[in-house]
Amino acid sequence: MEYVIGADLGTSAVKVILVNQIGVLCGEASRPFSIIQPHSGCSEQDPNEWTEKTKEAIKELVEKSSVEAEQIKGISFSGQMHGLVLLNREGKVLRNAILWNDTRTTEQCRQIEDVIGKERLLKLVKNPALEGFTLPKLLWVKEHEKELFEKAAVFLLPKDYVRFRMTGRIHSEYSDAAGTLLLDVKHKTWSKEICSGLGIPESICPELVESGAFVGCLTPEFAAETGLSSHTKVFAGGADNACGAVGAGILKEGDALCSIGTSGVVLTYESDPVQEFNGNIHFFNHAAPKAYYSMGVTLSAGQSLSWFKDVFAEHLSFDSLISELDDSQPGAGGLLFTPYLSGERTPHADADIRASFIGMDSSHKRADFVRAVIEGITFSLHESIEQFRAGGKEISRIISIGGGAKSEKWLQIQADIFNAEIIRLTSEQGPAFGAAMLASVGCGWFPTLESCAGQFVHVKETFTPRRAFSGRYQELFQIYRDVYRKTKSLNERLARFRM
Ligand code: XUL
Repeated sequence: MEYVIGADLGTSAVKVILVNQIGVLCGEASRPFSIIQPHSGCSEQDPNEWTEKTKEAIKELVEKSSVEAEQIKGISFSGQMHGLVLLNREGKVLRNAILWNDTRTTEQCRQIEDVIGKERLLKLVKNPALEGFTLPKLLWVKEHEKELFEKAAVFLLPKDYVRFRMTGRIHSEYSDAAGTLLLDVKHKTWSKEICSGLGIPESICPELVESGAFVGCLTPEFAAETGLSSHTKVFAGGADNACGAVGAGILKEGDALCSIGTSGVVLTYESDPVQEFNGNIHFFNHAAPKAYYSMGVTLSAGQSLSWFKDVFAEHLSFDSLISELDDSQPGAGGLLFTPYLSGERTPHADADIRASFIGMDSSHKRADFVRAVIEGITFSLHESIEQFRAGGKEISRIISIGGGAKSEKWLQIQADIFNAEIIRLTSEQGPAFGAAMLASVGCGWFPTLESCAGQFVHVKETFTPRRAFSGRYQELFQIYRDVYRKTKSLNERLARFRM
């Protein structure tokens, strides 16, 4: 039997999985990361920590398995999107990576709109200027850390940096490059117009390859440090949301995915590079060849629950926290939560908005807060679904992955709030599974991702909306929607008190 490794470089951890030729999970290991938050709105990580933790996780995976290194034929990646890693000419990291949920770049976004023009930007890169994307981060460094920027020989996205450290080769691939705001999504080239307009030297944009491309083998050092063979083939990989979609078999028109990790997304497969939602929904290249996806993003999805646990229930496990859902009723006794802990993307692209609990009552217990947080995250994702529906898409069946798919109770809440069938898969390994599928196709086990999905991806269970609860949630959703509008100016006034 042969094996591949799928590695997911997330925001809270790196996770690596070992998968065999029939799609069976044969091992997993992970290592957590912390986020460096020097100020409110800033979010950074040390790229060298990513590499070291990835090495440790792979070493543990290989040691725990009874598989010979030579049987592990390939490895591919999924990674948190948009993060900026800058390297000097010697390939050394110049500063901490600035992450996707860092929102310090509002001014740079306005600059991009002024120089390029909002309409032109949408035409070229299919997306509006949002704080989380990579180009505003490049402009921020150029303006605030001029000397450092001048030393930059290349920029990389997070998983592309780790892959560089494994192979010594520098590349970007289309699904992640699409989230930089520098890629002409339709023609799959770096946009000369945007680079020259904003004074970004084209030379710092890495060479582009397909997500499934073979980019080299492991360096002998990396192989020795992890217990892998230096013959292991390395394939480029994809953005975490694209890989989550591949791993859930989202490979044809009509397929929709809800993925709840640190962020939460709802995405739909697209076969044409058309701009359907006027920039309200992101539009990126898929990790599958000649395909795209549209996506709405909740910045703090799983992050809201982790935050709640860390601050109010540190001693509890996630499982026990979620089991408290049973001690509260749908609607959490009139308590609503909006998950804007780091601002929001869809449908409110707003870096200044912050989260709220509305309707606190002296009768509320912790269970009501837990329910309000979970319902609030789900309402926020429902706002993306409503954008898709308003744009004419039918969304009646959604595959759910990530933290939100680990709990049956949360899956049922998704079905009730989204008013759609929610599908749980048998092997729910999220983006790492999509990365493993890219490696499986790369190794020649399957001719296409579709045929690989036919073998690897299976439905386990379907959750259908319960009419009584859906109706109640629809009413609550109308109130939830109002919270943004009614708290916007209060949060703007509070912004100057944030640390
Ligand atoms: C997508 C986004 C997040 C990150 C999280 O645009 O910013 O989903 O990819 O890893």
